[in-house]
Parts: sequence; structure tokens; C-alpha cells
Amino acid sequence: MNVVHPALPILALALVSWAVQGTDSAQAGREKAATCSACHGPDGNNLQDIYPKLAGQHAPYLEAQLRAYQAGTRQNVLMAPMAVSLSAQDIADLAAFYAQQPPQPGTATEELVELGKRVYRVGNSDSGVPACTACHGPGGSGNVLAGYPKLAGQHPAYNVTQLEAYRTGERVNAVMQAIAARLSDPEIRAVADYIHGLYETP
Ligand code: HEC
Ligand code: HEC
Repeated sequence: MNVVHPALPILALALVSWAVQGTDSAQAGREKAATCSACHGPDGNNLQDIYPKLAGQHAPYLEAQLRAYQAGTRQNVLMAPMAVSLSAQDIADLAAFYAQQPPQPGTATEELVELGKRVYRVGNSDSGVPACTACHGPGGSGNVLAGYPKLAGQHPAYNVTQLEAYRTGERVNAVMQAIAARLSDPEIRAVADYIHGLYETP
């Protein structure tokens, strides 16, 4: 018997239109991203390592960060002015575009791998640092539903500034502030570098 449930064609149509909308949004985002490319690269992969890579980052996380810059809950002299005039639609389109771009992998520095890997995979029980894998995953792909950002391939210099900003409370997030407060300078440097060499496991 070959029975098609009456709702299936409607569901299929809804899915197709959702996918088309997503693609339209990413397409609009590509055009809007022209002003962002000077710092973040044309496809969200850039070379200047003080600016974060955006390629392949989860769309909901990107949206949340852009809203935080707008609201002033995340502050940065270079980035906040770029976010201030974005509409809700701009934010959705830009996030959809960057999330779809293939991320370029990075490399880790040999001398830092041992400490970086230990912090990332095991944490530090003496100082109470949890393993980063618990939330960001062994390959650094994060968890879109839980709101844990992807880290794989991110620039070391950017990672260092963020971990230091959480540590001083300049960047506000209860979970990451508590973790960063327990990290030593050498641990921050090593784990920031290790993250650059991570690539997503399927
Ligand atoms: C003049 C350089 C510059 C331009 C242009 C720029 N950004 Fe940024 N962007 C930065 C810097 C620097 C940071 C990191 C700031 C910080 O430490 O909070 C950043 C951070 C971000 C983040 C947070 C990333 C993360 O992993 O948390 C997002 C999202 C973002 N930018 C999107 C955009 C978009 C979209 C545009 C264009 C509308 C744009 N940026 C234009 C410099 C720039
Ligand atoms: C309990 C879950 C959890 C654990 C464990 C955790 N993180 Fe995070 N991490 C988060 C969340 C949630 C965010 C996003 C916070 C925000 O919105 O500012 C984040 C953000 C980050 C960012 C900023 C990403 C960006 O693009 O700006 C870095 C870097 C980071 N974490 C590194 C680490 C490191 C290194 C460890 C291990 C020492 C770690 N995290 C452990 C949940 C976690």
C-alpha cells in the first residue's frame, strides 16, 4: 500500500518555503555584510586576529551578540557603532549569512598544545575550572540549542581578549565570568591557542 498522509504535501511545502526564506535572508545578509567585511572578511573568515571570525557561527548566538552591542550590555568601541543602526531584519539576515559560510580552520602552536588541551578537555580541578568540552564540545562546535557558541578555529588573540574581558567583568555572562575568573594567564594563552586548532567533528 502506498498511502500519503494528507498533511505531508502541506508540510513539505512549508519546509520548502522555510528553506527558501532562509536562503533569501542569507542572500540579503551577503549584501548587507559589505560594511562588515573590512574587519570580518568577505565571508566571515578574516586574517586580522583581533577581529573574530564569524563564518559558521550559530545564527542565534550571532543575533544575541548584535543585540547586546545595541543594548550596550556588550561594549566595544569598534563594534558597537557598527551594530547601532541595524534593524531586526538586518540582524536576522546578517546572522543567517555568516552562519552559512564555511569556516576556515586554524592551527595550534606546538609548545602550547599540552597545557591548552588539558584545560580544554579536563579543566583544572585545583582551581575549579570545568572542562570546556562540557559545553563547547570536543571539536569546539558548541551547542546551538543551549546557546553555547562555536569556538573551533577562532583567532587566539580574540579568544584571549574575550577570556580577559569575562575575567574582569567587562564582558558580562555569569557562566563564562565564573570560569574565566579561575583561569591563570598561561592557561588563557594556551587554551586560546588550542581553540584555534580545533575543527568541527561531524
Ligand atoms: C571596524 C571593525 C569592525 C567592523 C567594520 C565590524 N566589526 Fe564586528 N567586531 C569587531 C570587533 C573588534 C569585535 C570584537 C569586539 C569585542 O571584543 O566585543 C567584533 C565582534 C563582532 C561580533 C561578535 C562575535 C562573537 O564571536 O561574539 C559579531 C556578531 C559582529 N562583530 C558582527 C559584525 C557585523 C554584522 C558587522 C557589519 C554590520 C560588523 N561586525 C562590523 C570589529 C568590527
Ligand atoms: C557551562 C557551559 C560552559 C563551559 C563549561 C564553558 N563555556 Fe565558554 N561559553 C559559554 C557560553 C554560554 C558562552 C556565551 C556567553 C556570552 O553570551 O557572552 C561562552 C562563550 C565563550 C567564549 C566567547 C566566544 C566568542 O565568540 O566570543 C569563549 C572564548 C569561551 N566561551 C571559552 C571557553 C573556555 C576556554 C572554556 C573552558 C575553560 C569554556 N568556555 C567553558 C558556556 C560555557
